[in-house]
Amino acid sequence: MLSHQASDPKRKSLHGHWSSRMAFILAVTGSAVGLGNIWKFPYIAGQNGGGAFVLVYLICVVVIGMPVMMSEILIGRRGRRNPVATMALLGQEEGGSTRWRWVGGMGVVAGILILSYYSVIAGWTLAYVVKSATGVFAGASAAAVSEQFNGFTGDWRLVALCHTLFMSLSVFVVARGVERGLEQAVRFMVPALLILMLVLLGYSINSGYFDEGVAFMFTPDFDRLTWGSVLAALGQAFFTLSIGMGAIMAYGAYLPEETSITGASAAVVTADTSIAILAGLAIFPLVFANDLNPADGPGLVFDTLPLAFGQMAGGTFFSTIFFILLSFAAWTSAIGLMEPAVAWIVERFNKTRAQATIATGFLIWFVGMGSVLSFNVLSDVRFLAGTIFDNVDYLTSNIMLPLGGLLIVIFAGWVMCRNSTADELHGSGGLFKTWRILARFVAPIGILIVLINAVR
Ligand code: PFF
Repeated sequence: MLSHQASDPKRKSLHGHWSSRMAFILAVTGSAVGLGNIWKFPYIAGQNGGGAFVLVYLICVVVIGMPVMMSEILIGRRGRRNPVATMALLGQEEGGSTRWRWVGGMGVVAGILILSYYSVIAGWTLAYVVKSATGVFAGASAAAVSEQFNGFTGDWRLVALCHTLFMSLSVFVVARGVERGLEQAVRFMVPALLILMLVLLGYSINSGYFDEGVAFMFTPDFDRLTWGSVLAALGQAFFTLSIGMGAIMAYGAYLPEETSITGASAAVVTADTSIAILAGLAIFPLVFANDLNPADGPGLVFDTLPLAFGQMAGGTFFSTIFFILLSFAAWTSAIGLMEPAVAWIVERFNKTRAQATIATGFLIWFVGMGSVLSFNVLSDVRFLAGTIFDNVDYLTSNIMLPLGGLLIVIFAGWVMCRNSTADELHGSGGLFKTWRILARFVAPIGILIVLINAVR
């Protein structure tokens, strides 16, 4: 039996390996930083009253997000297979059960569901690159900008076209494989993204409403905090870090043995959180400067920023850059969302990477049509959390990811033996002990309390 020993050095991923530690950090950061930071974080923070939500979100990122991410990477690297096979293999080796594969299976499904609507919003972003570049927003009034948004999202053919285009771009990169596709894409996109966010921040500091934006984000009003918004904060922490669904596990499978998982996780969590806070700091002052509503919902970025840009000198240029940035961020995240499904199909059915990617892409495209139609033809079809889009979002972010994360930390903290995890995390010192306490107690109990109270 392999258990309780160093993982087999001959165990290799079928899909190749990251060429360096930096490549891995870039790839995971590329997956983490996406629409979740720039589109979703501000609008959810806005809907949940700002400060208190942001505080809970930050706590969730540190005490739950970080240990879950480390657990996912260490499981992925030890198994070196797709998330389904890795969970089955380690489940058996560690004396658990191969039934742990269902955690990987839920991740594959969550990735497909998330990308189905993520691609639709990414499609809006692509359309807004064109709208911005052609000067549609220059000097436009609030009414004109929101008419653009409603007119565009109301036209299902156009939205479907953009969704199709975005899915094709994602399939293209994923089909090229780990080193040639994923790595090349993120190497350029992540640094570009950071620079462009700083440019945007400079704009918002000059808006005259920076203090209002800062106060909204960092002054907690606990009266507005419900269990529902605590769950939203937990779900957002999972979503933004790309954890709880095996994406990071799949990336971990391509990680060289000697790379420090703790260091890489800390770098990714810091980068991701900084970009979300930076996005909030860039967006809220502009919202207040223009007398807009922070609780506007999914349209916030699309309804408010073009208006603000339209009133600035050089707005056409910066607006175009902003939406290009957002498209790139979405693109590198879409790659991570497809990876578990693609890796699983390649290994399970012995298909080529290209075949697996095209099949997965087509399925996601089809499911995504539900979200395309949620903003127009089927906007009146409402149940449980709202439209089809709202339900897919709620089910994945607020239920599947926290549940997946819960099972992943329980597996790493309780099922895997101490030696196996110490071996992957290279140590038995204070950092390892801290991780173990967080993974065994703090994270599982925290997730359970939030899930139980919010869903009751
Ligand atoms: N973390 C991404 C974002 O914040 O936009 C979304 C995401 C990507 C979730 C990849 C999950 C994933 F596997």
